[in-house]
Amino acid sequence: MHRLRTFLRNNDPRILPVSHIPRPRTTAMIYTTRVLKCDPDSVMFSSDHPTIVSSETREALQRASEELRSLQIVAFPTETVYGLGALALDPIATARIFSTKGRPPDNPLIVHVSSREMLLKILPKGYAISRTYEVLMKHFWPGPLTLLFPSDSSIIPSIITASQPTVAIRIPSHPIARALIALTDAPVAAPSANTSGKPSPTRAEHVFNDLQGKLNIILDGGPCGVGLESTVVDGLQEDGNLRVLRPGGVTVEDLERVIREELFDSVSPPKVFVHRRDYRDEIIEQAPTTPGMKYRHYSPSVPVTLLLTRSRPPSEMQLSSIDVFLKTIQSDAHALGRPLRVGVLAPSDSPLLDRLSAVSTQTIEWTRHPLGPMAEPAVTAQRLFDGLLSLDEAKVDRILIEEIEEEREGLAVMNRVKKAAGDSVWIKL
Ligand code: TXA
Ligand code: MG
Repeated sequence: MHRLRTFLRNNDPRILPVSHIPRPRTTAMIYTTRVLKCDPDSVMFSSDHPTIVSSETREALQRASEELRSLQIVAFPTETVYGLGALALDPIATARIFSTKGRPPDNPLIVHVSSREMLLKILPKGYAISRTYEVLMKHFWPGPLTLLFPSDSSIIPSIITASQPTVAIRIPSHPIARALIALTDAPVAAPSANTSGKPSPTRAEHVFNDLQGKLNIILDGGPCGVGLESTVVDGLQEDGNLRVLRPGGVTVEDLERVIREELFDSVSPPKVFVHRRDYRDEIIEQAPTTPGMKYRHYSPSVPVTLLLTRSRPPSEMQLSSIDVFLKTIQSDAHALGRPLRVGVLAPSDSPLLDRLSAVSTQTIEWTRHPLGPMAEPAVTAQRLFDGLLSLDEAKVDRILIEEIEEEREGLAVMNRVKKAAGDSVWIKL
């Protein structure tokens, strides 16, 4: 560690290419992972300062904060998913996130701050926040919205931004996340607290099952309310429009509503474009900075099939009947010589669940994980990753997920589902 510090003093890492940033040898170390209970309801914010009434929660937060200050990583709950945090302005600490997750170094991290004051300290001197961003921050911060800002490489280490000219920042609304950052009094970089490529954790036990032995502290603040990651928005383009790079906890409809209500008097109110839905960009699709484009994402260890029951197939494609599809699954079961364990994620009121129940349980054992009513995509969002991880933990042989409408939270749900699924089939119910 001493040699690394000397190296860093002599060679400012903020101007080094990512590949030259020294990596701590954390992978070989075994930690005794402790899960510390925290009660989110015991944390109150007045202005930007937390008051923590439960002594158990206060002590857990203090220990976690000391852990961060000693350049270690800590898993903590946010309103979206659990995060794996480290001091954002310290490249040694941040490098531990990459080695612990097995994250490719060219995939940039989100920086979490607890207040506007902390935000302003890490933005380039003289940078004026646009009116559009002010409106979005007023409505959605603290909350599940991540905004791109210009990055000053003398403040933000290049390991955070993957040497990009922008940095992604948000203020989380989860009281435990925000209190941890406020107590530490420093910005915290945090990707989702999972091994790269797996579904993001929404409960402390998901983190423990995946990363035990790789970190000292997991703060357990109960299940995450949103269940999917934040919406990543780029509002820095010259045309002033907003580009949604990753749909998430704040819906496109919410963004559009707020713009309509607050920016109706501007000469040309910004439009909201969703990447891949409203526009394509060959260059950014090759870049790892475009969330979820380059690397495998959200995949459990067993095959996942997307059942398309709502969208229409392209004319040349055949619509399968559910019976034909089930026959192919049953033939897998015959080859196995035991009942095939199949996990199903579908809306609670979908006819699919009844249709599947009709199939003989001698060849297939169904494990259902209902995703809430079709009319409530926010519930589906909250349950999706939990469902994928629970079915994986239950050791099913394969998972089926039914399509939902790509509206409101459904857009983010289907964005994750399409990446999790290895194949898809059009089904007529
Ligand atoms: O809800 C969330 O956003 C969670 C919680 C922990 O805050 N975090 C999260 O982090 O989902 P992660 O690393 O799993 O996803 C961050 C995404 C990545 O896909 C990355 O490509 C994108 O944000 N990103 C980060 N910095 C970027 C930048 N400068 N330009 C474009 N995309 C960026
Ligand atoms: Mg992630």
